Amino acid sequence: MHLAHLRLREFRNYARLDADFSPGFHVLLGNNAQGKTNILEAIYLLATLRSFRGVGGAQMIRHGEKGYFIGANVVAADKHEIKLYWASRERKVTLDGQPVRKLTDFFGVFRAVVFCTEDLQLVKGTSRIRRRFLDLILAQTQPGYLPLLQRYASALRSRNSLLKRRIIDEAALESFSHELVAVGVRLIEARRALLPRLSPLARLAYRRVANDAEELRLEYQPSVQADFALELARSRDRERAARCTVVGPHRDDLALLLGDRSAAQFGSEGQKRTLAIALKMSQAEYLTGLLGSPPVLLIDDVMGELDAQRRAGLMPLLERAHHASGQVFMTCTGENWPRELSRQLQRWQVNAGTVVPLKAPA
Ligand SMILES: Nc1ncnc2c1ncn2[C@@H]1O[C@H](COP(=O)(O)OP(=O)(O)OP(=O)(O)O)[C@@H](O)[C@H]1O
Ligand SMILES: [Mg+2]
Repeated sequence: MHLAHLRLREFRNYARLDADFSPGFHVLLGNNAQGKTNILEAIYLLATLRSFRGVGGAQMIRHGEKGYFIGANVVAADKHEIKLYWASRERKVTLDGQPVRKLTDFFGVFRAVVFCTEDLQLVKGTSRIRRRFLDLILAQTQPGYLPLLQRYASALRSRNSLLKRRIIDEAALESFSHELVAVGVRLIEARRALLPRLSPLARLAYRRVANDAEELRLEYQPSVQADFALELARSRDRERAARCTVVGPHRDDLALLLGDRSAAQFGSEGQKRTLAIALKMSQAEYLTGLLGSPPVLLIDDVMGELDAQRRAGLMPLLERAHHASGQVFMTCTGENWPRELSRQLQRWQVNAGTVVPLKAPA
């Protein structure tokens, strides 16, 4: 899978950009604040409709403009054209010229995994960030997952707003409980089934990247212990006191254990950083294994932070993406990309919202 053409209009610091990319490795070189990460952000939006920086659409519109546009040609088994337009009043997503009505139709078309400094939040941040990580992987691999997630969120919102009222409409509450449980058990089941597949990949990735004897283990920590309907009913007093739904997959967590201890509580900074990379590597490996071709890898500032040994641990993943006609985009401020890759790299100079190809190094 690769991104063959990228077109940006009024996106961040790009007034207009049109660039063609071959499969393989691409390094985006440039000083700080020139627009390297903005390119990765645009590519990631094409895959997930979300910014990995956790911001909303409005912030990505170029200052003083009304909307941004991102267009792309992607090549997988088939060729596809994706267009996103985002303005405060109007949002449009089209796939091959047709408006996308169901996100399910869209999510499988272009897959990307990002490695960025924000990944550290997977380890240090709240459970919401880890749930989102699992949900993204499931959405990227199972067509039915995203609609379930949306149904769950909607039932949860309705239920919570009822619980905030002074007088609670019991019949309405009951009907949302029913929906919440019906959908919730399917989310729990999908997350539970994912973990035994993801955990060994993450463990292997951690071992490759870390100079560290401790074993990484991922463990699903569901909010529901056995029977969602029963536990929801039993939480009645607690949820009325809290005025919101207190059990359910919206309270799940993913435990990250190094040598059976919580990495967030006991890990060193280096271990946490390595763990975050291992999680992303496991996501990429899982997608590759399941779908038969690697996702596009977006690597922002991560290479520069890693010492030679940790970088070497990441190499097999990059090499494999390369050999399978995949694609890797890396950003670097200096010429400090991994030397191991030098011969195969396509280099681009990013400068104040322009992107120009550089000749291969002699
Ligand atoms: N909505 C926007 N409109 C116009 N310019 C923006 C917008 N959002 C961000 N920028 C500009 O984009 C630039 C930052 O781009 P980006 O984050 O891609 O930099 P970078 O090349 O990755 O830098 P670094 O090496 O520091 O990470 C800044 O100059 C910033 O002012
Ligand atoms: Mg950057």
